[in-house]
This record gives sequence, C-alpha cells and structure tokens, in this order.
Amino acid sequence: MPKKQKRPAKFKFLPFSAQQRRLMHWWRPGLMSANNDFVIADGAIRSGKTIACIIGFLTWSNEMFEGQSFILAGKTMGALKKNVIRPMMQILEAWGWPYDYIRSGTDARLEIGSNTYYLYGANTEAAQDALQGLTAAGAYLDEAALFPRSFIDQAIGRCSVDGWKVWMNCNPEGPHHYIREEFLLPEKQKEKRVYHLHFMMTDNLSLSKARREAYERSWSHGSVFYKRFVMGLWVAADGLIYQQFADNVKDYLITDKWLEENEIIYATIGVDFGGTKSAHSFTLTGFTRGYKQVVVLDEYYCKKRLNPKQLQDDFVDFVRRARLKYKVYEAYCDSAEQTLISGLEMACAQAHVSIDIKNAIKGPINDRIAFYNSLIAQGRWKVMKHCTHIIEAFEQAVYDEKKKNMDVRLDDGLMNVDSLDSTEYSTESVQDDILYIAA
Ligand SMILES: Nc1ncnc2c1ncn2[C@@H]1O[C@H](COP(=O)(O)OP(=O)(O)O)[C@@H](O)[C@H]1O
Ligand SMILES: [Mg+2]
Repeated sequence: MPKKQKRPAKFKFLPFSAQQRRLMHWWRPGLMSANNDFVIADGAIRSGKTIACIIGFLTWSNEMFEGQSFILAGKTMGALKKNVIRPMMQILEAWGWPYDYIRSGTDARLEIGSNTYYLYGANTEAAQDALQGLTAAGAYLDEAALFPRSFIDQAIGRCSVDGWKVWMNCNPEGPHHYIREEFLLPEKQKEKRVYHLHFMMTDNLSLSKARREAYERSWSHGSVFYKRFVMGLWVAADGLIYQQFADNVKDYLITDKWLEENEIIYATIGVDFGGTKSAHSFTLTGFTRGYKQVVVLDEYYCKKRLNPKQLQDDFVDFVRRARLKYKVYEAYCDSAEQTLISGLEMACAQAHVSIDIKNAIKGPINDRIAFYNSLIAQGRWKVMKHCTHIIEAFEQAVYDEKKKNMDVRLDDGLMNVDSLDSTEYSTESVQDDILYIAA
C-alpha cells in the first residue's frame, strides 16, 4: 500500500481588498477588463498579489476550460512550490476541490478536474525545453521580473488555445526592465492588451499595521529598495550601493566589548579566491540568537599572488583562529575554482580542522545587495573594527554608471569586490530565511 499523503491544512481566508478582487475577477465575460489577454499585478512586497492571482487563475481556468493544459512557473521550482503550490493546495482543500499532485521532477503537475497544470522553474534550460512541446490555454508566472526573458517569451508563445490568458505578478525592478518596457508602458498595454494592477501593502487586509510598518522599516526611506519594494515603483539604482552604511559607518562598527554583551550562536566563512587582478578574501560572519544580529567577526585579505600551499596554510590558520572563539561548521567558497576548493578540503583534513567546505550559492548579486541593505536599514549588521577591507568595500561600492538602469555593481579592477563577494557568500545560505524575521 502506498503511504497516504498528508493533506495540507485548509487556507484561512480573510477579507479581500478591492484590488485583490479586481485581480481575481478581471477575466469574467462581460467585464471591460476581460477584453485583455494579459494581467500584470506589480507593486509592493506582501501586498497580496500572489494569493489573488492563485485564486483568480484557478477559478478562471476551471470555469472557462475543460481538458486543457496550463503553465505554472516560478523563478525556481523550489520558489514555485513554496510560494504558489503550497498555498494553492491549501486553497483547494478549503474549497473542497479534488486534485492530484504529481511531484515527479521532470513532469511535475497538478491535475484539477479535467485540466492539467504543469510546474516549471524558469531558471533552467530543461524547463524551457520542456515548455516547447506544450499547447496551453494559459500561464501563471509568479515573480515574473526575476525570470529570464526567454522563458517569458516561450511561455507566452505556448498559449494558443482560444481564450488564452497570461497572468503575471512581480515586484518592480529598474525602469528599463523588459516587463515594464514591453508590457506596462501605455502604448504597449494597449497594443498587447494588458490589464495592469498596481498593488500596495494596504491592498493586503490580512497584514496588520504593525507587520506592515515592520516591512516598511526593512529599507531606508529614499533608498531604491524602499521605492521598489514598499512603494512599488520601477526606479533605477545609481550611486552608492550601501548609502546608509557609507553615511553612518561608525554606527555599524563594533569592538570586543560588544561581543562580551552579545552572544554569537554560530558563524560561517565565505571564501573568494583571487585571480590575476583580484584578491583572496575570507569573511567570518557570526549570528546572534534568532538571527537578530549579523556580525562580521574577522577577515583575511591578500592581494599578493599565492601558491596553492600558501593559500591553504592561510585558510587553515583562519579557520583555527575562528574556531578558538566560535562554532564554525561551514565555509562557502567560490565555486568557479574547484581545484582550489579541493585543496582547502585536503589541507583542513590533514590539519585535523573539521569544517564542511561547500560551494557558494552565487545567487543574483542584486538579491545579496537587497539583503545587506535591509540588514543595514534595520541596524542588524555589525562589523568588527579591524575588518578594514570589508568596511571600505561596503563604503565605496557603487553601481556602474556606464550600465545605467541595469543595476550592475561596478567591478573595474580597482573596486574591492572580493571582500563583498566573500562576505555575501558567508550569509547567502541563510539570506532568504533571515531577511524578514526579527524585522
Ligand atoms: N485575503 C487573504 N486572506 C488570508 N491571507 C491573505 C489574504 N491576502 C493575502 N494574504 C496573505 O498575506 C501574505 C502576503 O500575500 P502574497 O499574496 O504572498 O503577497 P505578494 O505576492 O504581494 O508578496 C501571504 O501570507 C498571504 O497568504
Ligand atoms: Mg508573491
């Protein structure tokens, strides 16, 4: 007997705002808005876009189609399952609609009534290949501004069944992002028949005032992140990347005294390997209970050329020094350098220093930038005074003026991006989890 699958909890519905109801019902025959082929809900984080899209997409596809295929896509398969499929199943449970969830990797899908909803992570080539054979009646793209453009084009291209519609939601990016330029400019809205709904956090009635204010405090007023994620505006990033830090460096620096008063629960190491023009950089970052504070405890920075043996010795010393004071289980290393990583692993084993050497995740730089900006705005990031390379690197980091509107961090061989990289690698594995907690 196969093990019976545990059923998800039922979704607890709270009242929907007028904007959410528009997103749920815009397609209903007879409404002016139903003449559109696309709906794009953009705007602030946590404003109720995803939930309203899920409900709208389910009711639309169920009422208008039988025996058809649909596309459900997220930035990654993991993000789709967490942000969309989980609440979707809770909603189906609450409604009492029968469904089958087939999780299998290559052909993951939901079967609801006679319709089939195929699941895709937009970040893989395989997903785009799998899309190619499909004839769909609709697509739902969650957080679409984070997708490669090719995936969006593909998904739209697959929708050919009469009455097809494409549903997208996203937080804003820069003003020249293709979603804005191809779908949201007034002439494009008209040409492509796009129904545009802009969301603010106040459009989510389930969000308490206290919660909303905590989210608003996640970014400093006037910063590009505040404008995008709180105000929901498509604005450019330029100038200093960590403006608030650069303006108030002293507020973020600590000494041993601070560490006597605050307990570091554990620490991780980030490693960026140097090349011909760049430096070797290690960052030791510690976390206090509940991730309330994220603290740069120590750094290693060497711009000289090192042979592999010297690098290994220096790394072993760094780990040993860290472990005298803190619990350190993992080091995240630049995955472009597999031979150097193996070298570190071997050196640690020989020196009887037990530490798990892992590949750095190396996710989008802009996610890491948003993360540090949020920590800085909340006063949750500290740096030990002696870590001068990291302090200077964060103080001076700027967006590349030559690549305006593309949110590119300047890396001209003169800026110290190595300290930024190693510091980011040290926190990347917990970045999504700790962004909003303790907020
Ligand atoms: N009408 C509602 N009833 C219950 N929970 C809601 C409702 N609207 C939004 N939420 C909850 O608010 C949170 C944020 O909504 P979500 O749709 O994920 O926002 P966004 O996609 O804009 O970031 C989620 O936990 C969601 O379940
Ligand atoms: Mg969402």
